[in-house]
Amino acid sequence: MELYVDSANLKDIKHAASLGFISGVTTNPTLLAREDPSLDIRALILDIHRTVGGHVSVEVVSTDTSGMLREANEILEWFPEATIKIPFIPEGLSAVRELANNGIPTNVTLMFTPLQALIAANAGATYVSLFIGRLDDITTDGVKAIEETCEIWDVHGLEALIIAASIRHPMHLLAVAKAGAHIATTPYNVLMQAMKHPLTDAGLAAFLRDHQKMVSAKT
Ligand code: G3P
Repeated sequence: MELYVDSANLKDIKHAASLGFISGVTTNPTLLAREDPSLDIRALILDIHRTVGGHVSVEVVSTDTSGMLREANEILEWFPEATIKIPFIPEGLSAVRELANNGIPTNVTLMFTPLQALIAANAGATYVSLFIGRLDDITTDGVKAIEETCEIWDVHGLEALIIAASIRHPMHLLAVAKAGAHIATTPYNVLMQAMKHPLTDAGLAAFLRDHQKMVSAKT
C-alpha cells in the first residue's frame, strides 16, 4: 500500500517527503484554505510536486460538467502532471468519462460506499477515494467500506486504484493496508504517529549508551 500525504502544508510535505516513503500528495479546497491566504495556490501546488515528484491530486470546484472540464484544462495548462480530483456527483461522473476518454487521470472523491466506487470506476476513474473517518464520525464502519470495495475489486479484477482517505489514526492505516487498499492518503500527524514506537526509541537509546561505554572503556 502506497502512502500519500493528505495536506497542503509545504513544511509538513517537505519533511514527510524527506523521509523517503511518500509517493504522492492529495489536496482539497479545505486543506488549501488552512494555509496562508496570501499564498499563490498554483505556485504552492507546483512546489509540492517538485518536492514529492509523484502523484498530486488537484480538485475542481465547479459543480457542472462543463465547468469541471474547463477547470481541468486550466489546471493541466500550468500543471500537466496533475491528477484531476472530481467530486462524486452525476455531473462529475460525466466529466470523469470525458477526461478518461482523453487519457487524463482522475481521482473521484467524496465517496462513502463501495457502490459509489464501482460506479466511478465504470465512469473511467483512475483513482477512487473513500472517506473512512467521516463514516466513523457518523457511527458507520469506514474500514468496512474499504474492505467491501477491495472484495469487489478482487472479484471483478477492476483496475482503478483504491485510495483510503479521511484517515484519522494509525489503526485506520493498519486496517486499510490489511484490507488491500492500494493507497492511503494520510494526514502528516498520523504518518508521524505511525512511525513511533517506544521500544524503538528505548532500544536506540540503549544501543547508543552501550556503544559509548565500549568507546569509553577503550580510551
Ligand atoms: O482528502 C480529503 C480527505 O482525506 C478528507 O479527510 O479528515 O477532512 O475527513 P477529513
